[in-house]
Amino acid sequence: MSDFVARAIATERLDLLPLHVEHADDMAAVLSDPALHTFIGGTPETSRSLRSRYERMTAGSPDPAVSWLNWVIRLRGEACLTGTVQATIGPSAQGPVAEIAWVVGTPWQGRGIAKEAAGGLVDWLGRQPVRTVVAHIHPGHRASAAVASAAGLTSTGEEREDGEIRWRRNLG
Ligand SMILES: CC(C)(COP(=O)(O)OP(=O)(O)OC[C@H]1O[C@@H](n2cnc3c(N)ncnc32)[C@H](O)[C@@H]1OP(=O)(O)O)[C@@H](O)C(=O)NCCC(=O)NCCS
Repeated sequence: MSDFVARAIATERLDLLPLHVEHADDMAAVLSDPALHTFIGGTPETSRSLRSRYERMTAGSPDPAVSWLNWVIRLRGEACLTGTVQATIGPSAQGPVAEIAWVVGTPWQGRGIAKEAAGGLVDWLGRQPVRTVVAHIHPGHRASAAVASAAGLTSTGEEREDGEIRWRRNLG
């Protein structure tokens, strides 16, 4: 299971680049708006705390059955980082399942970046031995619901303890 490794993914306007600790300084600025945390919790991090988080993330999951895959989203035409996508891949009775999530910095929102990045990520996961993609979305978060829907996920209606709804796509 831990054989899953993030590779660069190119879409029309974006390069999804495997996350490195060195991205922390740029990403601290990209993710500096407190409003980004309305639905995902927490507060913006300094580049120092982001750097230590990225160190833990790139060190990998302590559970050998689970893979942590993380990318930064680079807007090719403007040569800047705009957000992140992630996939946490683990075992299930139906085969490997990837839980995905996305964040786009406030200055770059509303340009279809999350939709394009999530679509590229799900296409890439479809070329890996992943059977199912899931995402957990707050019921009031319309932008994220639109992103999940554009990536081919549908709401299962199942609510988690934290109130988020499970979305799913079977990759076959
Ligand atoms: C959710 C998020 C990633 C969307 O990023 P984005 O790049 O702006 O999204 P897109 O431009 O691809 O647009 C997706 C949808 O959101 C809508 N949208 C984007 N920004 C919006 C805004 N500020 N207000 C209302 N709707 C918005 C778009 O209209 C689009 O829907 P549509 O195609 O049906 O019109 C971004 O808002 C974000 O990072 N939020 C905070 C982190 C978070 O909650 N992540 C989700 C974890 S699963």
